[in-house]
This record gives sequence, C-alpha cells and structure tokens, in this order.
Amino acid sequence: MAVVLKTPDEAAKMRVAGRLAAEVLDYIAPHVRAGVTTGRLNDLSHAYIVQVQGATPAPLNYAPPGYKPFPKSICTSVNHQVCHGIPGDRVLKPGDIVNIDVTVIKDGFHGDSSRMFFVGEPSIQARRLVEVTYECMWAGIRQVRAGAQLGDLGSAIQAHAEQHGYSVVREFCGHGIGRRFHEDPQVLHYGKPGTGLRLEAGMTFTVEPMINAGKAAIRELADGWTIVTKDHSLSAQWEHTVLVTESGFEVLTTSAGAPPPPAAAAA
Ligand code: MF3
Ligand code: CO
Ligand code: CO
Repeated sequence: MAVVLKTPDEAAKMRVAGRLAAEVLDYIAPHVRAGVTTGRLNDLSHAYIVQVQGATPAPLNYAPPGYKPFPKSICTSVNHQVCHGIPGDRVLKPGDIVNIDVTVIKDGFHGDSSRMFFVGEPSIQARRLVEVTYECMWAGIRQVRAGAQLGDLGSAIQAHAEQHGYSVVREFCGHGIGRRFHEDPQVLHYGKPGTGLRLEAGMTFTVEPMINAGKAAIRELADGWTIVTKDHSLSAQWEHTVLVTESGFEVLTTSAGAPPPPAAAAA
C-alpha cells in the first residue's frame, strides 16, 4: 500500500483533528485521580469528543482484520499494560501510571495522541520510565525531515531507551494516518540509521514508542485487545501525530496543555 502524501488543504484538516485529539487529553487530565474508574474517563472523553468537539472517537467499534470491534472510545493502559487497554470498572489508585490514547476523526481526518498520567505520587522508577519514554518519542520526532529515513527515527528511539536499560516493544509501531486510522508506512521504534523509507514533505504519521522497564516481550489478554508486559514490568508510551516538512516536522497533536518538548540532548 502506498504512502499517502497530504496536500496543504489536507494537512490543514489534519492540524484540526490533531489539535482536537490533544485537547481531549487536556480536558481529561484533571479527572485522572485516585478513585476514578477508567470507564468514567472513557465516558467523559466520549461526551467531550461528540458533544463539545463535534468529532468522532475513532477507536469505538474499530475492528482491524483479526480483531473484534474495540468496545470503547479511548484506550486506557495502566502500569504493566503496554497499550490498547479497554476502559472499564478498574479504579485508579495512588502510584498508578496510566496511558490515555485518544484518536478523533474530524472532517474526514484522524488525529492520534497519547500521554502518560500519574495518579498521586509515582515511584522514582515509574517517574523515570515515563520521562525517558517522553524523551524517546522526541528523539524520534527530531529526526523527522524530508530526506531522512525511518531507520533514523527508530534507531534514535531505541538508543535512548537502551541507554537507560529499558526495552522497546517490537510488535506495535507508529503508523501513517490521514483519512484512515492506520495507513502506511509502519514507523518502527527501533532500527538502524540510513535504512528504511525515505521521508517526503506531506507525509503524516505517528511516533508512539512503547518502552518497558524490563524485557521487551509482551502478551495479549483474553479480552483480545489489552497488551501487557510478559514479565509484568512497568510500561510507558507517548504519542504524537507529525507532518513531514522540507525543513523538519510539524507536531499536529499540540494544545495548550501538551507538555513542552524536553531539552534537546536529554540523556
Ligand atoms: N490509538 C492507537 C494507536 O495509536 C490504536 C488504538 S486501536 C483501538 O494506534 F482500537 F484500540 F482503539
Ligand atoms: Co497511533
Ligand atoms: Co494512539
């Protein structure tokens, strides 16, 4: 399947969808507290997307080949859950770390972003994993420009994670995004510099590394969606949608509440 380049008009629509996804994360942030259920976070997000934004939550009933339809409007992945956690009755407690992943459709285009949240005070180890994973996402994003190659991104992410003794989940990756939720290319979060697809201005894709404190191995729960670390170590993920430009990149999933980029040489 070919990579779809976005026209300036399409990029403008992607900018709107991206901002809306980020604004859902801004909206839900103060609700991520001890005692709330992940199901309540889903319901609040769903109402905000549909009623306030006039947008559509892309995960709801999303059913890629081999999967049953995803039953909720956001993904909530807690502690050793890597990604695709299904919101439900789980009550968040102090010390939990939670990834909330939001994808909205507006005017035919998708915006996809996730952030990590702390419930109360995290352990030192959990805080460090979350910070380093954020740096990993940005190390990847900072490689993006026309003429760079996907392996440049993957290798920057992998190097930063492994420097800290962490491991990169291999089975899930970033993805092209636009009129469809998941388009080509696959954006691996590991690899070698100077390899892989060459980037062109107008490409839009996500960078969304999943980084484990322990080993890289994962398994899927019986619900058919939730991914967890096999060794039960903590896992973190951050996600932005980006547009490739001639001189670099534009992050499409920004908002007033998005955390600032980390210092350039964060190690
Ligand atoms: N938002 C996820 C991603 O970053 C995909 C979630 S698929 C769902 O690609 F069905 F679980 F929502
Ligand atoms: Co994504
Ligand atoms: Co996502």
